[in-house]
Amino acid sequence: MGYRVAVVGATGNVGREMMNILEELKFPVDELFAVASRKSIGVEVSFGEKILKCQALDQFDFSKIDIVLMSAGGTVSKEWSEKIGRAGPVVIDNSSAFRMDPDVPLIVPEVNPDAVMGFRKKNIIANPNCSTAQLVVALKPLHDVAKIKRVVVSTYQSVSGAGKEGMDELWNQTKGVFVLGPPEPKLFPKQIAFNVIPFIGTFRDDGYTDEEAKMWKETQKMIDPSIQVTVTCVRVPVFVGHSEAVNIEFHTPMDEDEARDILREAPGVQVIDKREPTGYITPKESQGEHAVYVSRIRNDHTVENGLNMWVVSDNLRKGAALNAVQIAQLLHERGLLERAEA
Ligand SMILES: NC(=O)c1ccc[n+]([C@@H]2O[C@H](COP(=O)([O-])OP(=O)(O)OC[C@H]3O[C@@H](n4cnc5c(N)ncnc54)[C@H](OP(=O)(O)O)[C@@H]3O)[C@@H](O)[C@H]2O)c1
Repeated sequence: MGYRVAVVGATGNVGREMMNILEELKFPVDELFAVASRKSIGVEVSFGEKILKCQALDQFDFSKIDIVLMSAGGTVSKEWSEKIGRAGPVVIDNSSAFRMDPDVPLIVPEVNPDAVMGFRKKNIIANPNCSTAQLVVALKPLHDVAKIKRVVVSTYQSVSGAGKEGMDELWNQTKGVFVLGPPEPKLFPKQIAFNVIPFIGTFRDDGYTDEEAKMWKETQKMIDPSIQVTVTCVRVPVFVGHSEAVNIEFHTPMDEDEARDILREAPGVQVIDKREPTGYITPKESQGEHAVYVSRIRNDHTVENGLNMWVVSDNLRKGAALNAVQIAQLLHERGLLERAEA
């Protein structure tokens, strides 16, 4: 017997991937409901062989639902996730609204599956930021062997991380450059086509952005509060797939060969690391895949116990939809899901 699942944000980048992944992973779904805003009432989305018509969030009865995969942005989550959780279903929330709430587990199943146990307090489980999710999958197995002291990360984040509007903006600007000149930036603060933008989110008083702060706070919540993380987040003109240049300093020895061996055995990780011109992964190759790819693993000659590596993953999958469905699988496997009365 399966579950009654609602995907909120079903017309979005992440929502569509959620439906693909529920099908791909054969998650036991009895009935799936596609939910979006009022403007999408009746809009058709596909779930396997089926075509579903979207329903409006504010008219939907969640009391008959077992699992809600929530992916409609932070403002919608702040207004709705707690209410939905109180109505019965467990909410797996993709936004940043509840990630740092002490009563809400923040989960990457390969990293901290046992932390899920506290989820009944609010009936909400948070999914991390897309850049954090792939980072922690690569850091955790190394931290288990030689404690990590400090991490320096520079991200190369695709435009799909900013939703379907972000993809449209890159597409329209790219076409425009060759015709009448690119249209004015709307979503991104500067032209993204043929450019890179070292600013994602909003500025904090200390000069970092909230996107950068999410990465260190979430890494500390999921792995270890003693890990120091410093970040520069950059938007690049790539449609799907986030990349990260990661420098790690350990408390105890860890060299490139040991790291490669550890990562080869690590859940969710695929090491592609040949010292030849095509022996690494690019975001294009990560698109549609489930793995967190680690390439270019090499000793850092400037510190005693340091490594550099290149980490790439599909931000719509491990960074969002796949991780959310894996959380649902984790709950199912541990017998933690209850079924609402139909
Ligand atoms: N993209 C990523 O890499 C990524 C990674 C991790 C987390 N996330 C998070 O996932 C969420 C969605 O991202 P996305 O990339 O899928 O965005 P998106 O492509 O812009 O889609 C947004 C979705 O939210 C729905 N929505 C907006 N306002 C709504 C409302 N008032 N009521 C009900 N539904 C509403 C939209 O429905 P309509 O079509 O009806 O407007 C659409 O289905 C965000 O919280 C984002 O931070 C994204």
